[in-house]
Amino acid sequence: MSSQLVDLSHGNTMALACVADSVVTLTNEAQLDVFMTSYSENTEHNLPLFVLSGGSNVLLPAALEAIVLQPQMRGITLMAQTDKYVDIEVMAGENWHDLVVHTVSQGWYGLENLALIPGLTGAAPVQNIGAYGVQLEDCLQYVRAYHLPTRTWHHLTRVDCEFGYRDSIFKQSPNTWLISCVGFRLHTDAKKILASYGDVRAVTERYAEQQGRLQAEPADVMQAIIDIRQQKLPDPKQLPNCGSFFQNPIIPQEQFTALQTTYPAIVGYSMPDAMVKVAAGWLIEQAGLKGGGIAPIVTHQQQALVLTNHTPYQATQDDVATAQRYISNAVYEKFAIQLSREPVWVNADGSIGYDEHVA
Ligand code: EPU
Repeated sequence: MSSQLVDLSHGNTMALACVADSVVTLTNEAQLDVFMTSYSENTEHNLPLFVLSGGSNVLLPAALEAIVLQPQMRGITLMAQTDKYVDIEVMAGENWHDLVVHTVSQGWYGLENLALIPGLTGAAPVQNIGAYGVQLEDCLQYVRAYHLPTRTWHHLTRVDCEFGYRDSIFKQSPNTWLISCVGFRLHTDAKKILASYGDVRAVTERYAEQQGRLQAEPADVMQAIIDIRQQKLPDPKQLPNCGSFFQNPIIPQEQFTALQTTYPAIVGYSMPDAMVKVAAGWLIEQAGLKGGGIAPIVTHQQQALVLTNHTPYQATQDDVATAQRYISNAVYEKFAIQLSREPVWVNADGSIGYDEHVA
């Protein structure tokens, strides 16, 4: 465990300039108990707490006046195995993509569509990470997490986690939970999990063919997803970003149908309750902002939904807010659809901000 003034510019994939008052790195669960006991005994001088994982879905302030808790516990444990499935428990500090590669190489399937998503395993349940027709909740069995206000450990089932599209109980109650590990049930039967989403199937089949296989395997799915993501999404190490910057807005079918008469090519997916999820990337592109924005924060040339930082470690949260406002306004003026930000906006005191801060 360590505690010191820390520059977090390299601790967030958007590479925003940020200095935090204090950082506490946790490499096992007992350290959290010890830290929280001393924290609760010294209430007078205490700064607020803020939990930071891989920093791939946050927009940090230039000065973060908080104690940053960084869960970095490691380990993957095989809990149970049958001829159909395996149950594994993965500690929060395990790199997500490395976990996906590891499980596929073991012949354990279910996570392959979620390859190359940046960040650590502990953060994955917070926004119920999803890609190419799969969401984390499809394989997740439970989460072990520490409830900071009551200083107690909890075992949360999938239902307890209240998962939704890019949503969960952890996202709804920020700075309340610290996730220490995630339990998954993965399958050993490959046939059930072949992707059928868009171009994924075609690329998967091409990979299988190259390998001389008649039927595609999960490893082929994973390779296809890696390929597709590498083509469309910028690598944060080369061009800082925090993945999709906006959520795909969900609008009434009626509004979508009306838009279709003016814009027949508009991309939308039917949802329950006569709603349609609209591709925000398409809206931004049609608003003329693919590759646009306000320097140094501009949308990616290959995927307009991703905002990129062209002056790493110098650009600040304010620059992001300026670009967000500009892009949202352009989309609203053209389509009368309000875009919502997807990554978490962190205020100077570690509390979580909402869209009204920049609207
Ligand atoms: N599109 C455009 N122009 C663009 C971007 C997209 O016309 O600049 C169109 C595409 O042609 C496609 C549609 O929009 O018809 C959807 O695009 P895509 O399949 O790339 O997916 P997305 O809706 O933009 C979502 C997730 C991604 C995830 C992909 C693949 C959200 C907010 N984003 O993006 O997640 O990788 O689907 O499943 O739901 C992330 O959350 O960080 C992330 C990258």
